[in-house]
Amino acid sequence: MANSNEVTQDFLDSVQYQPESILQYELVYGEDFVSPGGKALAQEMIARLALAPGSRVLDVGCGLGGSAFVMAREFDLKVDGIDLSKNMLEMANRKLTAYGLAGQVNLEWKDCLQLDCDGFYDAIYSRDVFLHIHDKSRLFSVLHAALRTGGRLLFTDYCCGPKPWSDEFTDYVREREYDLHTPEAYAGLIENAGFTSVTGEDISARFTELLQAETARIAEAGMEASVREKLLDSWQQKIKRSKTGDQRWGFFTAVK
Ligand SMILES: C[S@@+](CC[C@H](N)C(=O)[O-])C[C@H]1O[C@@H](n2cnc3c(N)ncnc32)[C@H](O)[C@@H]1O
Repeated sequence: MANSNEVTQDFLDSVQYQPESILQYELVYGEDFVSPGGKALAQEMIARLALAPGSRVLDVGCGLGGSAFVMAREFDLKVDGIDLSKNMLEMANRKLTAYGLAGQVNLEWKDCLQLDCDGFYDAIYSRDVFLHIHDKSRLFSVLHAALRTGGRLLFTDYCCGPKPWSDEFTDYVREREYDLHTPEAYAGLIENAGFTSVTGEDISARFTELLQAETARIAEAGMEASVREKLLDSWQQKIKRSKTGDQRWGFFTAVK
């Protein structure tokens, strides 16, 4: 059974991923993306999976489908993308149809804690999604089960520094209902689920660089002045949280 602390579709769609917020994120991260680094970083991460054409990949928390579209177009992979936000999925499926990728990419509304596809995937890829999942132990066992033996897991995620945190960071995590770990602790959670060859890297320096570039993009983007001010303020807060060392970013790989 899923942990009762888990966020619901309703929470995601009414708090963080309202349609207008999704469009604002997309302006910051680039077309089809809702996570740091946008398309360029997705291309880099997907290349690191080093998969043969035709391999089956699960994109967990696919958002607007950006990574799934890159996997299909540029790497000739067969992709299932799942996401718990109906707003996100609706926009992603409109893009999928417009791009004519329906033969290679399938996008479905699904909670990643409720997978039932044992041994099916050659790889599982996820970008900045697991911060929303509280029961990490269940998460990694479900993902482990969904992979074939030898299959690879690769993801990035928001992480944190050791406690105590600043009051501001504590409030931010509570309001978003995030569940964050230090990069070191995260690697242990992955290992506990039976994964081998686990690597965990603190890539916070890259996060800070991307935040600067995103701030410049917000400043230049065509949008209402009030929206620009709100986004700039939100990005300044992220820069501040990163500078204190409370907010971190992690990159993880593992093998079943
Ligand atoms: C920051 S967005 C990243 C989206 C996409 N991976 C990207 O890189 O553009 C996080 C996504 O995780 C999804 N998500 C959160 N909890 C989930 C769950 N339990 N199962 C599937 N998706 C979930 C959200 O709806 C949201 O689309």
